[in-house]
Amino acid sequence: MENVINFLSELSWYWYLVVFIILVALYDLFNRKHIILRNFPVVGHIRYWLESIGPELRQYIVANNREELPFNRIERGWIYASAKNENNYEGFGTDRDIHSHQYIFVNNAMMPFKVEEDHISKRKPEFVPCAKVIGASKNRKRPYRPASVINISAMSYGSLSAKAVDAMNQGAKKVNAYHNTGEGGLSPYHKRGADVVFHFGTGYFGVRDKEGNFSMEHMKKLVADNPQIRAIEVKLSQGAKPGKGGVLPGSKISKEISEIRNVPMGKDVLSPPTHSAFDGIEGLIEFVEDIARETGLPVGIKAAIGKLAQWEQLADIMQATGKGPDFITVDGGEGGTGAAPPSFADHVSLPWVHGFADLYQVFNKRGMANDIVFIASGKLGFPAKAAMAFSMGADVINVAREAMIAIGCIQAQACHNNTCPTGIATQNKWLQRGIVVPEKADRLASYFTKFNKELLEITHASGYEHPCQFNMEDVDISLGDMNLTQTLEHTYRYRKTPVDYIGLSKMENCPYLGGK
Ligand SMILES: Cc1cc2nc3c(=O)[nH]c(=O)nc-3n(C[C@H](O)[C@H](O)[C@H](O)COP(=O)(O)O)c2cc1C
Repeated sequence: MENVINFLSELSWYWYLVVFIILVALYDLFNRKHIILRNFPVVGHIRYWLESIGPELRQYIVANNREELPFNRIERGWIYASAKNENNYEGFGTDRDIHSHQYIFVNNAMMPFKVEEDHISKRKPEFVPCAKVIGASKNRKRPYRPASVINISAMSYGSLSAKAVDAMNQGAKKVNAYHNTGEGGLSPYHKRGADVVFHFGTGYFGVRDKEGNFSMEHMKKLVADNPQIRAIEVKLSQGAKPGKGGVLPGSKISKEISEIRNVPMGKDVLSPPTHSAFDGIEGLIEFVEDIARETGLPVGIKAAIGKLAQWEQLADIMQATGKGPDFITVDGGEGGTGAAPPSFADHVSLPWVHGFADLYQVFNKRGMANDIVFIASGKLGFPAKAAMAFSMGADVINVAREAMIAIGCIQAQACHNNTCPTGIATQNKWLQRGIVVPEKADRLASYFTKFNKELLEITHASGYEHPCQFNMEDVDISLGDMNLTQTLEHTYRYRKTPVDYIGLSKMENCPYLGGK
């Protein structure tokens, strides 16, 4: 034995290397899974390694500034700079092809809106509350005016880490924005002081009984115990995976998650594609009304848009009865997700502009547009895109991935496999270690502040005081050579109903203003 050890210790390092390569070659030659390795032992690994670092190579070295999706480098750079309170301007002029098809132009006024010295926007340049009061048209007990037009979209604790949710909530509190809980229930990290929109889907997490059915008793208790909940959102679908249920594997259900979601530990939990708490459109309306009556809060629905027949039916019943949702969140097909099959994410449901135009018209043509608050999500966390959304009838913008980018997401697109390198979309404690919550809260707050300020500046440039005053003649869209550019009104064939606007300074004193 001693002789063998002596022999091995005297061998030069490259003999070990040679043995290692021979072992790898043997493994490759006889493996049954990978053709490339069987045919090209050892060197075949270079191909797999290059493939694995391909996204990073493209992101950092190969892709140009406007090339990447979902968010290109210029878009991410604007959010990063805004979040870090750094210079977020660009020099030398736009690098975009402003003659390209589908390009959007906001029509500036000859003379901008004059902000006088005593105007509220001089004192609070980031104060842009929602022009409508959610729940006012249906006389809910606790109507709500979101104090910021940009807010955090549904993302559950579970798809996001505790520290990410915590940072977002603390950031939202600083700028009086609301924080939508996503489907995973109300976690302790949603209770850092921001207004909350409680959201649930078919799993009824946080408001379910032992059998997994919706429980009004749980709902009432949740709202009574948490006065920061200002509205409730029933999820019908989301842009990235409409009509797709989900499974929460038992292995991922920690004691904390089991308590927050009201689910047993160790057992897989299903979120079916459809709701068990109601049937059909009439059932949905009664469900919404029951929750609003029992909790006193405004209740809305979130959906991605495709066919319109059921929406027409909903609008007819709402018009006839005066009942129904207080707000509708329209999510674009380009929307994000923690995890979805590519066939759903890429193809099912309309992009935001088409889906919203269709949906808004359903209510607009019945004269109901001002009775509903329209919330918009789908890559709209940029001031000019938000201006377009307002001109089409949106009242509030929800952002999910832009909020993630603000707190440090690098678009690694690993939300679905628990390996998010920034700790934002993973439950891995080591990876979460990188997040310093107070610092990231400041970043979220700074991004929202810059967004509101810049949106207001574009609004002033177009001659208005508040973005709700944008209409469809204020934005042009390039349709290609034949039609050159046309207004949104011409392109989508409707005229937005003017919002009953009371003026910014009156909104400051509104008793229903959020953030208090
Ligand atoms: C990590 C992650 C988790 C999400 N979880 C939910 C959810 O629980 N419920 C839901 O309706 N939408 C969910 N969404 C969709 C977002 O709320 C939002 O509608 C969509 O991403 C579009 O907004 P964005 O383009 O600003 O990201 C999630 C999105 C992401 C990125």
